[in-house]
Amino acid sequence: MIISGALPLNVQQAVDALCAGELVGLPTETVYGLAADASNASAVAKIFKAKGRPSNHPLIVHVASADAVKKFASDVPVFAQALMAHFWPGPLTLILPRHEHMATAAAGGQNSVGLRCPSHPLAHQVLKACADKGVWGVAAPSANLFGRVSPTSAAHVQSEFGDALLILDGGECEVGIESTIVDCTRGVPVLLRPGHIGRAQIEQACGLKLVSPESLEAEAPRASGTLASHYAPAAKVRLMSPLDWQKALEALGPHTQNLGLWSVQKPSPDLMGGGLFWRAMPGNAKQAAHDVFGVLRDFDARGVRTIWIETPPNTPDWEGVRDRLQRAAA
Ligand code: TXA
Ligand code: MG
Repeated sequence: MIISGALPLNVQQAVDALCAGELVGLPTETVYGLAADASNASAVAKIFKAKGRPSNHPLIVHVASADAVKKFASDVPVFAQALMAHFWPGPLTLILPRHEHMATAAAGGQNSVGLRCPSHPLAHQVLKACADKGVWGVAAPSANLFGRVSPTSAAHVQSEFGDALLILDGGECEVGIESTIVDCTRGVPVLLRPGHIGRAQIEQACGLKLVSPESLEAEAPRASGTLASHYAPAAKVRLMSPLDWQKALEALGPHTQNLGLWSVQKPSPDLMGGGLFWRAMPGNAKQAAHDVFGVLRDFDARGVRTIWIETPPNTPDWEGVRDRLQRAAA
């Protein structure tokens, strides 16, 4: 059931449900989360079951403020403190060493915990009210079935989990792709998942170079958002240069069927219509991040079988979107 976040009574209903060990669809500035009390193992088990996600894939624990970090993390390196000070509340998740008995199920058995303080006003209200009732952390993976496209609206969440789930409607997510994840358990900051907050910003805020997981000797912790294939719509996704999709489209001519195209340039009018669905790709990365998951879902809803996507520019601002598209295409 979708309930409007504009009504204080509804916000209270979501808080009560979370505190009672129920699941709630929760808006954040990145994507909607499937939320549960992070310290309640049976509530957390409901998340894994609903998503069909393996229980050893750790969940992010959301907190109302940096003050709650010490409840879950046993050690916060100086560079992690700097990152929190710069980017919280906001779309940044930090992986920190975990207090032995805290949020064990949410952490998927890892000895670390992913923490994030979201900036969405509704998420903040809910987290603050939960903390006031002693629920210091809310585990919330993206509210989609395992491996599928993340949701950026309440309707998307409902289409994944049906009407039985309580969903707090906070409008469309502003950022549109999941938080940047930085592992802070290895002495140096390690970028596990690119996002809206880019490498240069992170390096500048903490005064250290970001390390990539591949360059480390020990195996990086499991992050399902970092599996090669993820964020996958039902249709097959192909990344193509503008020249390639134009040539391929001309070759198909009027026989185009069930094809979705997300590109900056509009195809020539004689190729439009029929079985081709075209959506305009924004020329700037921020807007493209906002749109990407909605576009993939929209193509799926139209029964498109193949999606051609124009390969985004190879510049730092596009890293988050490029990453999601490469995984959708894998
Ligand atoms: O923007 C976001 O981060 C959204 C919203 C809802 O906050 N959440 C999200 O959660 O994307 P999820 O579960 O779909 O992705 C979380 C990622 C996963 O790839 C998970 O494996 C990784 O974070 N992660 C969480 N805790 C971890 C840990 N202790 N060590 C390594 N990776 C961790
Ligand atoms: Mg996810």
